Amino acid sequence: MNVVCIGSGYVGSVTGAAFAVLGHHTTVLDIDQHKVDQMNAGKSPIYEPGLDHLIESYIGRSLFATTDYGVIYDADVVFIGVGTPSKGDGTADLTYIRLAAQSIGHHINPNKFTVIINKSTVPVGTADLVASIIEEVSGLQVNTHFAMASNPEFLREGYALEDVFFPDRIVMGIENAHSKKVMKELYFNLLNRVDYEEKSLDFHFAHNPNVALPTYYETDIKSAEMIKYASNAFLAVKISYINEIARLCETLGANVTEVATGMGMDSRIGSKFLQVSSGWSGSCFPKDTAELLATSQKYSCELTVIQAAVHSNQQMHEYVVDKIKRKLKTLTGKNIGILGLTFKPNTDDARKTQASVIIKELIDAGARVKAHDPHGMVMFQQLNAGLDVQYVTSAIDVTHNVDAVILLTHWDEYLLMDWSTAKDNMRSPYVLDTRNVLKQGPLQKLGFDYEGLGISSSRNRIQEFVRT
Ligand code: UDX
Repeated sequence: MNVVCIGSGYVGSVTGAAFAVLGHHTTVLDIDQHKVDQMNAGKSPIYEPGLDHLIESYIGRSLFATTDYGVIYDADVVFIGVGTPSKGDGTADLTYIRLAAQSIGHHINPNKFTVIINKSTVPVGTADLVASIIEEVSGLQVNTHFAMASNPEFLREGYALEDVFFPDRIVMGIENAHSKKVMKELYFNLLNRVDYEEKSLDFHFAHNPNVALPTYYETDIKSAEMIKYASNAFLAVKISYINEIARLCETLGANVTEVATGMGMDSRIGSKFLQVSSGWSGSCFPKDTAELLATSQKYSCELTVIQAAVHSNQQMHEYVVDKIKRKLKTLTGKNIGILGLTFKPNTDDARKTQASVIIKELIDAGARVKAHDPHGMVMFQQLNAGLDVQYVTSAIDVTHNVDAVILLTHWDEYLLMDWSTAKDNMRSPYVLDTRNVLKQGPLQKLGFDYEGLGISSSRNRIQEFVRT
């Protein structure tokens, strides 16, 4: 099948590479010549483990990259995978979606029934908008000359290849009989894992062959558009929930890791997304919750649970700062080392990260901050030019002469760090592990004052409570 993916960002480059691996003639289309050149040179335009290797293996074979919109003419399916950033009021900015639709309108083949698929996260109703733009520009008619579909992506940054080749489900919002057939054919190899054995040898991720085959879920277009937002908002709510439970555990002397494990054994709850943190962030959850809230306000339909999850998440950032303030008595004149600036490991994405909020609050309270991240330092520095932070290229350098180290992102490198040397380097050996991933016992043996979130017991408070 002839596939075109518009956009060589996160969604477009991963989707394009995946369809090329699955045996389709796939072209990634972007107006940015530099990104296209990078792909043609066998390099990934984004940081994503394993993607470089895939692009290098398939470019020029079944994967192509170009700036020439003319490729749309021969396409059987066109995926739109362009960015939909947040506007000031929280709603999604559809500028790039509109431009993509206009370009499709200019280049679509009137004699070929092309299926146009939104893969970007777009507000409910965007498929109708795209169809109307294509109709206006081309003079063609939706469902007569072309069809629309919504096929949201559920890729986690850092694990995108695992998610694209071994998804739980493919959600397909589709209403036209012919395009239903086309999309099932497009996904056939993925749904049945055809040729996976040989091909997956090349992938740099652990693949569990026992993972069940994906479910292919066909629904109407608007419901598919909503599934993406509702899923991301639900996951954000789930994390906010466990983070609140963590705060209460800490007060009562319970251990949130134990609590999450016990909760997760209930299949109605599930064990995923119950890992405590200083709060969720990244390029999806903040943007998608903001869009849902803005839309709900517009239609006078209040989403109080999502509102509360966003508020609770902000409180979690503040909770971390308060916790360190309580420990060090004051932040004035204190040196703090930060491990991790990206919103999670295995990505260089430092947009909307909790680190920027926490570091700003530490500096405002009078602390001096040193920071490290294996891949996110450049982007973080660019996006937070106003923050007076000393960036160090080696993780251990964060520990020199500091009064506290805060682990914000659980990169493997931090788990494997030479903590004995770190202890000798520090002015006072306090570690706040906001992901509960470091080994508490060995660190305490080294002489660290270790605290996680939701695990350090405050016996006094609970005993006082029990006595009264
Ligand atoms: C998310 C969705 O998971 C994905 O399906 C969607 O397509 C895009 O948005 P992503 O933003 O890459 O993916 O990251 P994700 O792994 O979901 O994590 C989001 C945030 O939640 C991160 O800050 C992460 O550290 C945090 N998180 C996640 C927790 O704090 N605890 C958890 O248990 C899981």
